[in-house]
This record gives sequence, structure tokens and C-alpha cells, in this order.
Amino acid sequence: MMLSGKTIIITGVSSGIGAETARVVRAAGARVVGVDRNPASVELDAFHQVDLTDAGAVEALIGDLRTYRADGLANIAGVPPTAPPAVVLTVNLVALKRLTLGVVESLTPGASIVNLASLAGIGWQGEVERIKAAADLTLEGVAGFCAEQRITAENCYFFSKQALIAWTHENRWTWRDRGIRMNAVSPGPVDTPILGDFLETLGERAAEDARIMDRPGRPTDIAPVVAFLLSDGAGWLRGVNIATDGGMRAHIEATSNGLN
Ligand SMILES: NC(=O)c1ccc[n+]([C@@H]2O[C@H](COP(=O)([O-])OP(=O)(O)OC[C@H]3O[C@@H](n4cnc5c(N)ncnc54)[C@H](O)[C@@H]3O)[C@@H](O)[C@H]2O)c1
Repeated sequence: MMLSGKTIIITGVSSGIGAETARVVRAAGARVVGVDRNPASVELDAFHQVDLTDAGAVEALIGDLRTYRADGLANIAGVPPTAPPAVVLTVNLVALKRLTLGVVESLTPGASIVNLASLAGIGWQGEVERIKAAADLTLEGVAGFCAEQRITAENCYFFSKQALIAWTHENRWTWRDRGIRMNAVSPGPVDTPILGDFLETLGERAAEDARIMDRPGRPTDIAPVVAFLLSDGAGWLRGVNIATDGGMRAHIEATSNGLN
């Protein structure tokens, strides 16, 4: 099987895309160590109930996760823009980075790190200054950063995903000497418990997406892509961001450049 003998850490494992990824990854032969603030909802090999906005709890979690010497880390926990901006930035970016950098030394040679970004991260190239300003942000510094850099309910989700895609590109070779790679998956709208929150906050833009798309995505459209990136077959994929969105990114890139 594709992931036989591997141990994979999955955050956001108690719902939606994370829960489906746990199912797929276990079915492919791996042991899954889950992390979520809510109780586990699918069968796992180990589970750590942790709120990733709690700086102390994240440090303790890092210590626990290091003991698994895992072969992969899927950063899937995320919150929609209905949450306060500081929480969005913390869960979707700052805690994700802290957890990853805390755990990476314990990962086995050839390990894979996968970040769940979003179609909302399109256009990160226009945000490079703010992305650089956020580079060394700590959990304690998020509220001040949001005030200083005008991260609001309107832009926090976009910014968190833009910065995550940029960070994935930046880390294309960071751990290359150990064969450890980092990639991202960017879904379009997916039918999970937070889809309604996106529709509520993104307003016209979400309505336009819904009009163009044949259907929203499902967790079963996303999880196999994450599982592939966690597998050895994806060994030469480094720093890429895979659009898994029913064609939405291709549509935006083609039409915004004057093509059909
Ligand atoms: N659903 C979509 O339309 C969509 C589109 C693009 C990207 N995404 C991304 O996919 C990822 C998964 O989202 P989903 O749609 O499966 O949503 P979901 O709400 O079903 O799952 C998210 C999980 O993350 C956990 N989580 C949230 N905050 C946490 C915290 N502070 N500490 C620990 N765990 C926490 C939640 O408890 C939940 O189990 C997110 O990063 C989201 O931004 C979703």
C-alpha cells in the first residue's frame, strides 16, 4: 500500500478534510497521530486534543509529537474568516509554522510536510511586504501584528493562506539534505461544516464562484491529493501548491490573462 509502515501526524483531524485524510491515509497503510481542539471523530492510532491558539499547549504538543519520529505532517487545522482575525492568523499560519518548525527535526529522512492552503491564497505575490513582516511572528505577537498591518475580518483569511503558500515556496529546499519536502494543497470551496462561514463572509466573490463551478468540492476530492503528497511517489515535488479546485485557478489565470 502507498503509505505502508509510515506514521503521519494530521492536524484538524476531527472534521471535514482532516477527518477524511485520516481515513484515506490509514486505508493506505499508515498509522495516524491526530491533533484537534475537538474530540476525535474517526479511528486514529493516537490523538492529542490541543487548541493551537494556546502557546503553552503548542510547545507541550511539539514535545509529544517529536517522540513519534513521524514520516509525515499534514497541517490541515484551519478556521474560516468568521473567527476573529487574530485567531485566523494564529491557527492558519503562526501556530502551523511553530508546530512544523518544532517537529521537523524529529521527522524521518524523506518525510513529507503538507500544508492545507486555499484558492483564497491566490495573488500572494501582491502581499510580499506584509508576508515578510509576518515571517518571524510568534503566537504572542499576532494581535499587535494585526493592528499594525491592518489585518481585518475582510482580509485575514486571504492573508493567512497567501502567507502559507509563500512559506511553502520558500521552504522548497530547507530540509533537502534530509530529503524532507514541503508542499501545499489549495482547495476551492469544499462542502464541510465551514463552507457556510465562507459563503457568509466572502459574499459576492463566493456567489460568483458558486455560479461558475459545476459543484463544490468534497473532502473525498482533497484527501487523496494530500495522501499522494505524503507518499514516496511525490518525492520530487518540492514547494509546489496543487490547485484542487474543480478548475477554478485555471479559470482565473486563463481569463485574467485574456484567454478563454
Ligand atoms: N471547506 C472549504 O471550503 C475550504 C477551502 C479551502 C481550504 N480549506 C482549508 O481546509 C482546512 C480544513 O478545513 P475544513 O473545511 O475541513 O473545515 P472543518 O471545520 O471541517 O475542519 C477544521 C478542523 O480544524 C480544527 N481546528 C480549528 N481551530 C483549531 C484550533 N485552534 N486548534 C486545533 N484544531 C483546530 C477544527 O476543530 C476542525 O476539526 C482548513 O485549513 C481550511 O482553511 C477549506
